[in-house]
Formats: sequence, structure tokens, C-alpha cells
Amino acid sequence: MKTEKNRIAVIDLGGQYCHLIARRLRDVGVEPTICAPDVAPKQLQDCAGVILSGGPQSVYNPEAPKIRRGLLHLGVPVLGICYGHQLLAKMLGGHVTKRDGEYGPAQLDVKVSDTLFRKTPRSQQVWMSHADAVTRLPKGAAAMASTERCENAAFADFRRHLFGVQFHPEVVHTEHGQDILKNFVRSVCKIRKRSAPTDRIPLLIEQIRQTVGERSVFFLVSGGVDSTVAFVLCARALPKERILGLYVDTGLMRERETAELRANLAALGLVDRLMVRDASALFLKKLRGVTEPEKKRHIIGRLFVEIQSDAMQENGIDPAHWLLGQGTIYPDTIESGGAAGRAALIKTHHNRCDEIRELIRQGRVIEPLSEFYKDEVRQVGRALGLAPRLTHRWPFPGPGLAIRCLCSTIRGKAERLSSASADTVRAAGCRGVLLPLQSVGVQGDERTYRKVVAVRHDTGRIDYDRMQELSTALCNVHTETNRVILFLAGGSKLRLENARIRRTSITRQRVELLRKADFIVRMVMEAHGLTDDVWQFPVVLAPISFRGGETIVLRPVNSEDGMTANFARLPPRFLKGVARKIARLAGVDAVFLDITNKPPATIEWE
Ligand code: XMP
Repeated sequence: MKTEKNRIAVIDLGGQYCHLIARRLRDVGVEPTICAPDVAPKQLQDCAGVILSGGPQSVYNPEAPKIRRGLLHLGVPVLGICYGHQLLAKMLGGHVTKRDGEYGPAQLDVKVSDTLFRKTPRSQQVWMSHADAVTRLPKGAAAMASTERCENAAFADFRRHLFGVQFHPEVVHTEHGQDILKNFVRSVCKIRKRSAPTDRIPLLIEQIRQTVGERSVFFLVSGGVDSTVAFVLCARALPKERILGLYVDTGLMRERETAELRANLAALGLVDRLMVRDASALFLKKLRGVTEPEKKRHIIGRLFVEIQSDAMQENGIDPAHWLLGQGTIYPDTIESGGAAGRAALIKTHHNRCDEIRELIRQGRVIEPLSEFYKDEVRQVGRALGLAPRLTHRWPFPGPGLAIRCLCSTIRGKAERLSSASADTVRAAGCRGVLLPLQSVGVQGDERTYRKVVAVRHDTGRIDYDRMQELSTALCNVHTETNRVILFLAGGSKLRLENARIRRTSITRQRVELLRKADFIVRMVMEAHGLTDDVWQFPVVLAPISFRGGETIVLRPVNSEDGMTANFARLPPRFLKGVARKIARLAGVDAVFLDITNKPPATIEWE
């Protein structure tokens, strides 16, 4: 079945990881197309293979998603994953039965080590998440692998090129998952052609032209890599006079942000297509007294839309002939509850507020990068000629410092840890308290909003391995918390028990204090050549007071795509030096380090 086709259709049957399958396919150089379950087979004629994703349903549930039988007769290989594996087995005449669940790691015993399992070990770890299982194989199918609790963990009908795997090859915890997907692509679908994210540039440009048609694009640019890359793509696709960029100075930006954006667009010859609006007074006014993170996010998203529509009106731009351009990337969509609304809401990204969703429904938004992850956007940006200083910038969220400036409606004091947690903290050589200040986390794919545990090491030593064990143990055991912070600077006499939570909301002074701390971090990291050692470095202002001031929390993280992250392990002496510098700012009582991974915490606190 030799083919020059380079596209695989991924049928979205409602799984958490559906988009991750597409991402992994791109990693092996294949173009994925995510399709709804009821996609017509004739629409997939340019595909070299089909993958059926997982999903939360049971195949016997009448509501469960189904696919058209014709998809199995396209003459191209099909791979079912988890629910997709069960659906495939059932459609071919096999049996699926409810069983005890199998969640997390499982040892896979491979019986047939060619096709999917080519060049992978006979015994390998896979990641399972299922209760139903294929208990009788369809006629003509053979078991390829099993686990202790699942005899048909993989099957194949070799003659018809139909395959099913109960486990999830797309998640990193499946040791050879990427090899298995690669085998499906290369050995089964016979796709030889490889494409990189940058090969999609001509296609992206063509798609922009088709979507925009005779209209023009009014772009919201933030100065970050995503919106700049998307703006430049539109500028390549359309005549210059048909694109305009609007940069809204929210007053919540980092130091020197506006000047940097102008310099970057000037280097690309686009600065004359940029309008700047100073809306800092408006943003601060609307955020006054607002403490709830989701409320903040909605207000900010709505303000962007209002300012954009005012700017269009002032410039006599007819909305009927203009689309709104945004630099939205895939994690923005999935964390905001997914495009189809099936995933859980972790946080509403500024470009997914209700007003934007409504514009999307009306077909008035263009988002050329909405299927991409951050690392892919960076590659596209480099290929478009953007300076590495821009493409390698630490990600900065649209709502800016507002979601790093924590607020509290209550006053509170440090609380004692439960005795089990106190024992865990002591065993790590620390003391700790529970702070009645909440931050957002992601646990079991769900949003959590829980209190923070603050710890201090008795000798001031930073042992990252132990701190990771400590934060993991506390968040697993202590259901009240999803985040742990470690004391770095603020004086030897500071006692965690004296911490007080102040009642606060966003004020200009607080944002300015945070901006100063953030600037110190950026400058010192740059001066020490450490900028590229972390993926992102949020600096957070928390209303935790020890002497009437507040607390700064450093949150350096490493990640590939922002979906999961580890707290970064900067050299301890360097980190303490930065913390001492920040602790000298008037109004800062103490500096802590966030020692929580994502999950259970998210990267940003709100
Ligand atoms: P979390 O905090 O959910 O963030 O772990 C993952 C990544 O997304 C960024 N982020 C945003 N980016 N608009 C954005 O453009 C937003 O509303 C937003 N919220 C979070 C965050 O900085 C991190 O890189």
C-alpha cells in the first residue's frame, strides 16, 4: 500500500488525550486531522490511516459515540485506542465486557512483535485507564499483547490492517508509546514522507487566505510569541493594508514590554500596521475589589473585546468586513474546557471568554495557531525569521500580572498542619504551616482551588529531590492543599507561624511592586546566562504578611508544552541571591520558592 499521502485522521470519541494523539503524530512528521465521530468516509479519502481515540463512555451505552462503518472499508489501516479499541472490536463482531478497572501503569506482555510492536521489548510498561475490556476477539483477529488484567490488550486483523490497543500509546508514561505510534505510521500506513511544523507554513498561509477571503484581519497582539507569530503569518498571507494590529497596554504588562513589542515589529517591517491603546486605568478600575480568579479572567477577556471593538469603530472599520485575529494555541482551548466543551475547565484563558466564544460561533475569528503547542509555535516563528530573543521568550499570559497578583477577601492567620502532614514536613527537615490563601491546581484532570502550605528548612538547605518528595506527599495526602512553597529570604527571625493573610485586591501600587520583582528576576537570570535554563518564570505577589508587607513567590518551571511542568532546579546559591535582592524591595517581607509540579499545581497561581 505504497502512498505519498501524509495525513492521518484522528476520530475524537471524547477522550482527554485525543489532541495529544494528534500532537504525537506531528512529532513523527505526520499531518493529523481531528474529526468528529460522524465524519463521512468520503471526507477521509486523502488519509493514509485512521485512529479512533479513547473516550469516557461504554460501547454499550446508547449515547456512546459511534463511527460510520464505511470508515473501516476505506482500505487504509485503522488503529483503535482504549474506547476506540473496544468500539472497533465490537463493530467487527467481538465482545466487550465490564470488568474491574485497570488504571495507571501496567506491564504489557507482547506476543507478536512485528507491525505495531516492531523493535520494542517483549515486556514493556504501558498506561491504562479502563474498566470495560475486549473479552472475545472478532473473527479473523489475533491477540498481540496482554497484561495481567487484560488478555486482549492489543489485537490485529492483519489481513484488513485493523488494530486495537487498550492502553494509551500517546501518553509519555507508556514507555514505548511513541515507537508504537511511529510503527503504525511507518510500518503499517507506509507513510514515508516527514513533515516538520515549519512545513505547514505554506498550508497555514493558504488557509488564512481562504478563511479571510475578501475581508481583512484586525489582530490583537500582546507582544508574546504566539500572537506575534500569528500576526506575521497573516501579514505574509494578505496585502499589508488588509491587516492591522492592536496592542492594548493593560497596565499589567512586564517592564519595557511595549517598547520591546515595537522593536520586534519594526524589525519585521510591521510597526506601521500597529495601533497602541493605553487602557491601564480602565483595567485597574474594572479589577478593583475583584478577588476570584475566574472573575478576573472573564473581566480581562471582555475588556479586550470591548477595546478592540471601540478601536474599530474609531477607525471607521466595518466589522462585517473584518475578522478578529488571535494568537490562541491549543492549550488555551483545552484548559478553557476544550473546543467541544467536553474537557474540564481548568482556567478560562483570556482568548476564550464568553464574548470571544460568541464571535467564534459567528465565524468572525481567525486563529491560525489554534492547533499548535508552544514549542511548535517557536519553530514556526524561527522559520518566519523572528529573532530568537522573541521566539525564546518566557511565555507570558494574556491577563498579565493580574493573575500573578493574588487577592484575598478574607483576613486569616497561619494554621497548623494536620499531624500526619506535620510529620511529613518534619521528616524532610522542615517546619510548615497551612496558609488560608488559595491557588488553582489541576488534579485528576479537574480544576482545584486549595490552600498553600509554606515550609522552611531548619538549616536553610535546598535539597530539590527532598523538596519534590515533600510537596508530592503533602498534596497527595492533604486534600486541603495543591501547592507548597519553600522559604528563601526574609530574615532569620521570620517565623512562619506569624504569617497573616491580608485582605487585598489589585492596586496600581501592588502591580508596580510585582513588576519590580519580576524585572529583577529577568535581569539577573539574563546576566547569569540562565534564561534558557527555565521554560517560564512567573513571579507572584501574595498577600502573605509577616511585618506589614507582602510576599513574593518565585515560580520557575520547566516544561515542553505547558500542559505538564516540573518546578525548575536553579543553583541554590544563585536563587537565594535573587531572593535576597527582592527581599530588599520596600513592601516585601519574604521571598519563597514554589516547589510544586504541574499537576498538582498549575504553572500560574490563578
Ligand atoms: P497554567 O497556569 O494553566 O498555564 O499551568 C499553562 C500555560 O498557559 C499560560 N496561560 C495563559 N496564556 N492566556 C494566555 O495567553 C491566559 O489566559 C493564560 N493562562 C495561563 C501560562 O502562563 C502557562 O504558560
